[in-house]
Amino acid sequence: MPEEGLAEAFGVTEMARAKINLALHVTGQRADGYHLLDMLVTFADCGDRLGFLPAQADAFTLSGPFGETLAGDGTNLVLRTRDLLREQLGALAFPVHIHLQKNLPIASGIGGGSADAAATLRGLMRLWGMDLPVETLASLALKLGADVPMCLESRPLIARGIGERIEVVPDLPAFAMVLANPLKGVSTPEVFRRLAGKNNPALHLARGLSGTDGWLTAIGAARNDLEPPARELVPEITVISQMLQAQGALITRMSGSGATCFGIFSTMAAAQEAAAALHGDRPDWYVQATETVSGGM
Ligand code: C5P
Repeated sequence: MPEEGLAEAFGVTEMARAKINLALHVTGQRADGYHLLDMLVTFADCGDRLGFLPAQADAFTLSGPFGETLAGDGTNLVLRTRDLLREQLGALAFPVHIHLQKNLPIASGIGGGSADAAATLRGLMRLWGMDLPVETLASLALKLGADVPMCLESRPLIARGIGERIEVVPDLPAFAMVLANPLKGVSTPEVFRRLAGKNNPALHLARGLSGTDGWLTAIGAARNDLEPPARELVPEITVISQMLQAQGALITRMSGSGATCFGIFSTMAAAQEAAAALHGDRPDWYVQATETVSGGM
């Protein structure tokens, strides 16, 4: 369903922006096994789209390039989100038809499921005419997944803890980017398991960073500590980085637990050219040129 179609058919629509980990440092581990992270995160202008409509009975439909690969049952994060929010609101939460246009690949490190959950929280609050306090919403989000609170923000931020300690970064600029994924899903727990207790230095971003060049230097000096273990599982990650560099990317890195890698380019024209070249070489991969949101959006 094209974007206009979704807006026409569903009164309330939301975009679930792809989440990009510009940096992800693993700094420790909690007693419950969850890892402590320092992350610099931004969001892309591409993502899944969701529509919400009052209905006689709850319904859930899927479309989009990756709609068929997703289960529409109780394991789906969109439905878990609906049910969790309904527990809070009780009878006020009337039946709803939710449509998910799945444009992002599944289990790909760019937050698809978490962004969908956050968009469902936003969309259902609007549909049901509710206004929960920010803290309640943030704690519901965290119950749904470590990345859901930051997807609720959908703007540049630093996240610490397991992702719940969020500080927005109003001066992060927009970047021209190419996202590439070999369509091999990666299990996040498996990548974390392979870290085997390795703790790394925290993320130190210089204060007073200014302009795109300053940020590029800082991002270039940072890391994604999940990249080495993810490369063991999906060797194509190395190939993607090499291909993005060969196309002139200023920085290439993996996002989240992979396998999606991003390349930052100097202009959107350069990003679009690089995406076309990658797509020509690997027509079976997910390749997308996109601009990330700026902190001052
Ligand atoms: O919270 P979420 O469902 O996204 O996490 C999936 C899995 O990834 C967790 O069960 C855990 O094994 C691992 N994880 C972790 N540390 C984090 C986030 C996730 O170890 N900060």
